[in-house]
Amino acid sequence: MASRQGLDSQIVIIGSGISGIAAAQKLVKYGFHNVRILEATVRSGGRIKTGKFGNNIIEIGANWIHGPSEENPVFCLAREYGLLEPEALNPENQAVDIGGHPPWVTNWFSSSGKKLKAEDMNPAVDLFAELLHEAGEFASKGVEPHSSMGDFIRTEARLRAEKQWQAEGARTRAQWMCLISNQLKLECSINGSHTMDEVSLGAFGLYKTLPGLDCTFTQGYEGLVKNLMAELPGGLVTYRRPVSCVRWNNTEGADRPVSVEVEDGERVTADHVIVTVPLGYLKRHHATLFSPPLPLHKLLSVQRMGFGTNNKIFVEFDSPWWDVDCEVICLLWEDEEDLVDQVADVKRSWIRKLFGFTVLTPTERYGHVLCGWIAGHESEYMETLPEQEVMHAVTQLIRTFTGNPIITPRRMLRSQWFQDPWTCGSYTYPGRSCSSQDLANLMEPLPSKGASQFPPLQVLFAGEATHHCYYSTVHGALLSGWREADRLISHYSSTGPPEPLHSKL
Ligand SMILES: Cc1cc2nc3c(=O)[nH]c(=O)nc-3n(C[C@H](O)[C@H](O)[C@H](O)COP(=O)(O)OP(=O)(O)OC[C@H]3O[C@@H](n4cnc5c(N)ncnc54)[C@H](O)[C@@H]3O)c2cc1C
Ligand SMILES: *[C@@H]1O[C@H](CO)[C@@H](O)[C@H](O)[C@H]1NC(C)=O
Ligand SMILES: *[C@@H]1O[C@H](CO)[C@@H](O)[C@H](O)[C@H]1NC(C)=O
Repeated sequence: MASRQGLDSQIVIIGSGISGIAAAQKLVKYGFHNVRILEATVRSGGRIKTGKFGNNIIEIGANWIHGPSEENPVFCLAREYGLLEPEALNPENQAVDIGGHPPWVTNWFSSSGKKLKAEDMNPAVDLFAELLHEAGEFASKGVEPHSSMGDFIRTEARLRAEKQWQAEGARTRAQWMCLISNQLKLECSINGSHTMDEVSLGAFGLYKTLPGLDCTFTQGYEGLVKNLMAELPGGLVTYRRPVSCVRWNNTEGADRPVSVEVEDGERVTADHVIVTVPLGYLKRHHATLFSPPLPLHKLLSVQRMGFGTNNKIFVEFDSPWWDVDCEVICLLWEDEEDLVDQVADVKRSWIRKLFGFTVLTPTERYGHVLCGWIAGHESEYMETLPEQEVMHAVTQLIRTFTGNPIITPRRMLRSQWFQDPWTCGSYTYPGRSCSSQDLANLMEPLPSKGASQFPPLQVLFAGEATHHCYYSTVHGALLSGWREADRLISHYSSTGPPEPLHSKL
């Protein structure tokens, strides 16, 4: 048990996303009673954000529990709170191991306005799956024969197509290459990267998947946030409190080692501060957010780790133009250059980056609603356009691929995660030249290990980007919050002579 003095310590958490809430929940449960969260916006949840679309709910941020099984704390909490459908709870569902890529029924459409036969596409689907699988193995082997994931896939796809597809007609081969381009764009969305050329091949296998067929929250992901918040004392979170500076290493005269400055001028002193701001925000604001600045090795890791944009564009139709059992629609551009996952002229052709749509199910609940996915700079450009312009582009896109010149969506709604000043993008991916050391650096508290400054654990770091193998996910974020709470708990529970709380060394 922590000492009385330990439980009295003043802990400030910056950000009320799932990682900040999880840290607070664990600390409060343990007995720390001077915990508060400072949140920049008017709401909790951060990148968990449930919205309205017509009469239905949609997820503007996180949608799935990736790998809903016993080891996934988000799944376990959601089950405890009663937020899941019965199917998600059955053991068979938890046992399916999909390796991060759900076996979705896909409808393929081509830019010549035709729906393609799924079985005709299998050789290319299989080739891509084979390459992804091989890519995941480089991390453990410690070899990196290509400069990036994109480079690896392009080079190998060309070589293998040459060998394996010789007997096929030129048209078929070209179509299969279009499919590889399409899947590269899809991977950009999954990874939240602009192009797979920016994703590290060696670090690709760092990301771990959990078993279980991805599932969603019946009443919205925010239900998880609300239930966790209900375990916290009222008033623990204060809203509209954007932190502008964390002054740490206060050695002279100050009663506590850290002082947190809020934009409106308020100052909060603390023994420990847990920073959970997104990596995108950190990349942009680290120079003003910390005083003294972040140590160089940490800063370099902030810069090396990737943080990109992935957005959703929801569209509703009067009737479906896809198969009844269709789960994802993929769009193949037949006039594109070989194997590209980025467009040359963003302003004119940004819509080509949208790889396709997932179908919202069950239809009885959602009606005929699709969620379009677009990543990268094209996605960031899309955010700047007026709604009607996006609506027009999506309408034209669907008319082109269905060959139906009058099809018109009923309504549309898009996310704008890059413009969100407190997120500056969507989520983390391992950039080129990244390794597990970068993730270790991101989660390392200040003062750094080995530094002679006191006291320890002044500034701690949680959030999606700090999880060594579940970065970019809700469960990764949640676990990172618990990890930092545990760090403080074990700090104060250590049996040796009690650490001086406010050493002025
Ligand atoms: C489009 C999209 C789809 C996604 N889909 C999935 C999915 O299907 N499944 C999945 O597992 N994950 C998904 N994710 C990722 C998941 O949403 C995140 O990994 C997770 O929610 C991050 O939680 P966090 O606490 O680390 O950060 P956040 O939720 O971003 O919380 C950080 C908080 O800090 C606040 N803040 C920022 N700066 C300051 C400041 N200076 N002062 C005070 N407060 C500040 C922010 O307002 C925010 O509330 C998706 C994300 C996006 C964007
Ligand atoms: C990035 O994409 C690859 C496929 O290219 C996938 O296997 C990997 O899990 C993705 N990473 C994340 C964090 O989703
Ligand atoms: C912290 O303060 C001490 C004493 O003033 C100083 O020697 C040290 O350089 C400071 N550390 C940083 C990272 O600024």
